[in-house]
Amino acid sequence: GYSGAGKSSLAIEVEKKLNALGLKTSNLDGDTVRNGLCKDLGFSQQDREENIRRIGHAAQQMVQANLIVLCAFISPFRGSRDKVRALFQTGQFIEVFVDTPLAVCEKRDVKGLYQKARAGEIKEFTGIDSPYEKPLKPEIHIYDAPNLLLEQSAQQVMQYLSST
Ligand code: ADX
Repeated sequence: GYSGAGKSSLAIEVEKKLNALGLKTSNLDGDTVRNGLCKDLGFSQQDREENIRRIGHAAQQMVQANLIVLCAFISPFRGSRDKVRALFQTGQFIEVFVDTPLAVCEKRDVKGLYQKARAGEIKEFTGIDSPYEKPLKPEIHIYDAPNLLLEQSAQQVMQYLSST
């Protein structure tokens, strides 16, 4: 989903629920990964694809160590999401589309980035002057997360996990 869609909050909430069940998790998030593992990357299509490629391989290592890995990234290109999916066995990769409309993300503008993007101070901002290819068949589709209680969105993910 877009920046500000609610991906990180949802990942944290789901992680809490998994941990409460005694399951071991790791949480990879755009804001932290981009300050470390992917510090050298920007927001061109090429850099975003490299960002997601590295995250996919890091997640693969952790999945092999029996962790459940929550990844909260915009990941705007279908091709890069599908490449990461292909690293995993069927059913291991679960795509969650946090489908908060762009207008809602922009209105909330939690980090003030949309305002900067509109002012031209940030270039290639997703949804403004950089594309977002919506998932066509995500395993989990969360509609308009900010209007739901976080608990409801997290329950939707947990229900999917317990049904598979
Ligand atoms: S991705 O497109 O490569 O998957 P990622 O999820 O790692 O993006 O990082 C997105 C976060 O970086 C956003 O939530 C926002 O805080 C910040 N950001 C800074 N510049 C941009 C930009 N041009 N487009 C989107 N997000 C940006």
